[in-house]
Amino acid sequence: MKSLKGTRITWLGHATVLVQTAKGTNILIDPFIAQNPKYPKDFVLPAKIDYILLTHGHGDHISDAVPVAARHGSAVVAIYELASYVAGKGVAQTIGMNLGGTVQLKDVAATMVEAKHSAGAQDEHGTHYVGVAAGYVLNIADGPVLYHAGDTAVFGDMKLIRELYRPEVAMLPIGGHFTMGPKEAALATRFLEPKIVLPLHFGTFPPLKGTPEELAALVDAGVQVVRWIPGESI
Ligand code: NI
Ligand code: MN
Repeated sequence: MKSLKGTRITWLGHATVLVQTAKGTNILIDPFIAQNPKYPKDFVLPAKIDYILLTHGHGDHISDAVPVAARHGSAVVAIYELASYVAGKGVAQTIGMNLGGTVQLKDVAATMVEAKHSAGAQDEHGTHYVGVAAGYVLNIADGPVLYHAGDTAVFGDMKLIRELYRPEVAMLPIGGHFTMGPKEAALATRFLEPKIVLPLHFGTFPPLKGTPEELAALVDAGVQVVRWIPGESI
């Protein structure tokens, strides 16, 4: 395992990931907890979560943003319209941004990057426009560069993400059906050239059939596909 220079990444099932930097900044990406069948039930979130990052408005990515932000004192970072939406649902502190922009979150520079996916948010009133789907590149001071792709198809401009940011760790959806599967994710690794791939968004529900083993069989030598279970950290 490559050293992440003190940064700890914990998978909480589906696309939910906790990033903890060596300097103590806690970032939770796409909190899907109460309704997430793969959430590790015994896992205790840190008391303080500095930031919650949302990739898009689908329920399996934002459904616990409001309660976690309230309980853990978090600012929610999202694309502008989604930030407004969760503010309307009761999040006290939001940081709206947009594609191509970077915000400094303590020791982490977070850049919002493109994703190819839909993004409407649904509640009892219907489906709301909350901007487009996105991913994040997290450049951690004195630490690694991480990429969380959100929900996406593979796209050629992943090459731009590599050229601009050179992420060492790529968190990629591999389940298929609603996102890319292993075949497409393997091509994504050729565009991104990460050292480590952390597979996400598989096995949560029966249609998400892609597996880390299938992906591992398709990537180039030198790319490490981590086989992890929810609750495990690297
Ligand atoms: Ni989605
Ligand atoms: Mn999803």
